Amino acid sequence: TILVLDFGSQYSHLIIRRLREFNVYAEMLPCTQKISELPFKPVGIILSGGPYSVYEEGSPHVDHAIFDLNVPILGICYGMQELAWINGKGVGRGEKREYGPAIVNVTDNSCPLFNGVNNSQVWMSHNDKLISLPTGFKTVATTDNSPFAGIASIEKPIFGLQFHPEVTHSLQGKILLKNFAVDICKAKQNWTMQNFIDTEIKRIRTLVGPTAEVIGAVSGGVDSTVGAKLMKEAIGDRFHAIYVDNGLMRKNETVTVKKTLDEGLGINLTVVDAGDEFLGNLKGITDPEKKRKIIGNTFIHVFERVSEEIKPKDGSKIEFLLQGTLYPDVIESISFKGPSQTIKTHHNVGGLLEDMKLKLIEPLRELFKDEVRALGKILGIPDELVWRHPFPGPGIGIRVLGEVTPSQVKIAREADYIFIEEIKAHGLYNNISQAFAALLPVKSVGVVGDQRTYEQVIALRAIETTDFMTADWYVFEAAFLKKVASRIVNEVDGVARVTYDITSKPPATVEWE
Ligand code: XMP
Repeated sequence: TILVLDFGSQYSHLIIRRLREFNVYAEMLPCTQKISELPFKPVGIILSGGPYSVYEEGSPHVDHAIFDLNVPILGICYGMQELAWINGKGVGRGEKREYGPAIVNVTDNSCPLFNGVNNSQVWMSHNDKLISLPTGFKTVATTDNSPFAGIASIEKPIFGLQFHPEVTHSLQGKILLKNFAVDICKAKQNWTMQNFIDTEIKRIRTLVGPTAEVIGAVSGGVDSTVGAKLMKEAIGDRFHAIYVDNGLMRKNETVTVKKTLDEGLGINLTVVDAGDEFLGNLKGITDPEKKRKIIGNTFIHVFERVSEEIKPKDGSKIEFLLQGTLYPDVIESISFKGPSQTIKTHHNVGGLLEDMKLKLIEPLRELFKDEVRALGKILGIPDELVWRHPFPGPGIGIRVLGEVTPSQVKIAREADYIFIEEIKAHGLYNNISQAFAALLPVKSVGVVGDQRTYEQVIALRAIETTDFMTADWYVFEAAFLKKVASRIVNEVDGVARVTYDITSKPPATVEWE
């Protein structure tokens, strides 16, 4: 295992991702990790980039005991500056900030880190730089702006890079990381998805033990389905999946979930129809965050009630709650800075742990979204589900703007169904990250035949994104939009007008509420 110590760079998780591309396993811990308390013995350490200045008070610093481990070390950007700071303090502010591409010149061909790397484009993102060579180091690469773009210790396998080898814009970055991990650290190249499944199933079995039971909510989305299937493989029917129909799901969702999970994948599934309860609790509520809270709390309530009902009769206990946490969620919470500011409250199940005294089980916490999909495929989950767009927990509840009533939900649901149906029919579904229809609480005048109408407005939204933190709207052909608009106005009662949302995130968010 390679240890990545995270100083909070937006690219830190990419280091882990790149290493896995050549089957090397790495784990990330906060940069302040005490080395004496490491949960494993790494074969090498990578210090990530970060948004701080090493010379400023309050900036994070690494435990110097990393050097006592006698394993190779690679510092990237801030990580390199940290190595320099420890070895002579030669770090300062560059005359110019440097963001974007630069050409690296390899000046020392004997350096094993640069083995097989030519002069090529690398990606820079820094304010600070080395102003002198740290004691005991030599220069191995330069760029026009950075005379110390690559440095290496003369005596030890310790290296520093001013640029970011982990981003794909550093064209030969992967070779550098591979040289470090495989040739220099001698890390094993044994991380494969099948391996991951085998180890994870063993880990789940040990954790849960021979009798305890596990419950988990499934939503019809890829993460919860993959998590549930993995649990099923590990402990069979001692895993109970609960699907709560909150009355805010997409059209035909409940039937489809039953079919795929229960009949198709053999998961021990309980379906609960709680639509009336959710819609009852939402009566009169228009504030988005209040809606989220009510939906979240109602969910917890229903979930607890149902898990009481399915309690195993033989005296064994439900001890764990499955959660489909992915790696990017984990990163948010381990960073030195702490979790980033909450724009919207997304998580629905947090309260369950305390209320029900359950322990958390998160089999996907090391995976990225595309890896969850790959895992889903190996586990036999149908392609349709594996490639499904994400759907928010509060569902149509935050896509009906203003008060959520059964008739409003119906309008939004029908319009959404038509939009997605057309997207699929035109072969566009997999080009789009997420698409949906929102129902606006305004009325607009229209004319149908000789009749004046006065009905509501549907806003269509379709976005492209890699991480949902930033997103751009999808450019449809005019003919496509024309067809969708015409179908919605003609087929959905209560809609007089259809609009298409052409706002990026930021400044807008993906959802309308
Ligand atoms: P926003 O609207 O914040 O959405 O740009 C980013 C992604 O998160 C989803 N989203 C939610 N998911 N509960 C969820 O489980 C929520 O309350 C929630 N709000 C937004 C949204 O669909 C998009 O994929």
